Amino acid sequence: MSNKIRWGVLGGGGDSLIGVLHRVAASMFDAYQLTGAVFNPDFDTNVAFAKEIGISTNRIYKDFDTMVAEELKLPESERIQVFSILTPNFLHFPMAKKLLESGFNVICEKPMTMTYAEALELEALQKKNNNIFALTHTYTGYPMVRQMKKMIAEGTLGEIQKVDVQYYQGWINPIIHDKEKRSTTWRLDPSKSGISCCMGDIGVHAYQMLEFITGMDVKSILADLNHLYDDNQMDIDGTVLLRLGKYTKGVLRASQIATAEENNFTVAVYGKKGSLKWEQENPNYLYHLEDGEPIKTLKPGNAYNSKLSLDGTKLPPGHPEGIFDAMGNIYKGVAKAIRNQVYDEAEFPSMRDGVRGMNFIETSVASHKEGNIWKEL
Ligand SMILES: NC(=O)c1ccc[n+]([C@@H]2O[C@H](COP(=O)([O-])OP(=O)(O)OC[C@H]3O[C@@H](n4cnc5c(N)ncnc54)[C@H](O)[C@@H]3O)[C@@H](O)[C@H]2O)c1
Repeated sequence: MSNKIRWGVLGGGGDSLIGVLHRVAASMFDAYQLTGAVFNPDFDTNVAFAKEIGISTNRIYKDFDTMVAEELKLPESERIQVFSILTPNFLHFPMAKKLLESGFNVICEKPMTMTYAEALELEALQKKNNNIFALTHTYTGYPMVRQMKKMIAEGTLGEIQKVDVQYYQGWINPIIHDKEKRSTTWRLDPSKSGISCCMGDIGVHAYQMLEFITGMDVKSILADLNHLYDDNQMDIDGTVLLRLGKYTKGVLRASQIATAEENNFTVAVYGKKGSLKWEQENPNYLYHLEDGEPIKTLKPGNAYNSKLSLDGTKLPPGHPEGIFDAMGNIYKGVAKAIRNQVYDEAEFPSMRDGVRGMNFIETSVASHKEGNIWKEL
């Protein structure tokens, strides 16, 4: 019998953006077996997709509640061990809550919930039930992001003075000026997306990234968001000033109307002794800057990288790795946790990231609404 981890999928159907990333990631290290799913709310579409990707339809269920009820009837040795929640945002909380209550492990897409209060509820539940919970802030799985984290932790940069994270996309530009298109985009609908579009979708990636690599918590923020039209309820652009310490400050810039930008996510951390810069669209290069020295470019798979970074590369240096590999590394870490193997806690983002992310989203919106004021996190 296969010793692969029995894996269930919620959402992520053939019509989705993110489903294929998770399926490839889960298969990358031969650790997971796609065992059951509700890929889509429509049962026929659901079954058709299972057939298309060649998995048995025995455990393709009509909806989430049926799936949980039926799986719980199975002996533990056959039951799904971990579910991935890949649905639109409003379903993350009810699904994660029920799964944690029912004793399942969870891999959840971001943003973790719709509200900060829900995030705190999930956190309490996970603490009580001790399930494994991973939040797929995909970019933390890149080898050079992991390297950045370890170099900063070792003190390579000295005291951090400034952080600058930017996530610029332009995909909402062709939508926002057309009312018809706007109404069919779930990310612009607060009932499906939550109170924020831009900060909730990509600002939160940038926020999690800067806390992940620096190991520091943001203490307070001041946000200036843009909705572009009075009848658009959701922010689609914004700049957030950050205070991480008395003398450690920064800026987070996110936009979905930065016309024609794709996934221009960049991170720069400036310390007393040096700086590190990384770009998501060019992820295999990490730039190390020092006063009076030529710039150094670090690349994945070389022995000078940390154990955590090297654990995230599969081939000799020079074979480019990308976003599928980054997500694969997150799934690899979760598999170690499920199998009770030793792992570095940086191998996958956790419930704590989700709670802090939801606090960031709500506080950004509140800071903006209350007249662009500083607010504690
Ligand atoms: N980690 C990342 O970098 C990243 C990137 C993109 C999207 N996401 C997140 O992934 C999630 C999904 O985003 P997307 O772009 O793939 O959305 P999408 O709209 O493209 O796909 C959503 C999928 O969920 C399915 N679905 C909807 N309701 C369902 C239900 N009740 N039961 C089962 N399935 C249902 C849909 O049929 C579809 O297959 C979002 O929360 C988003 O924020 C994360």
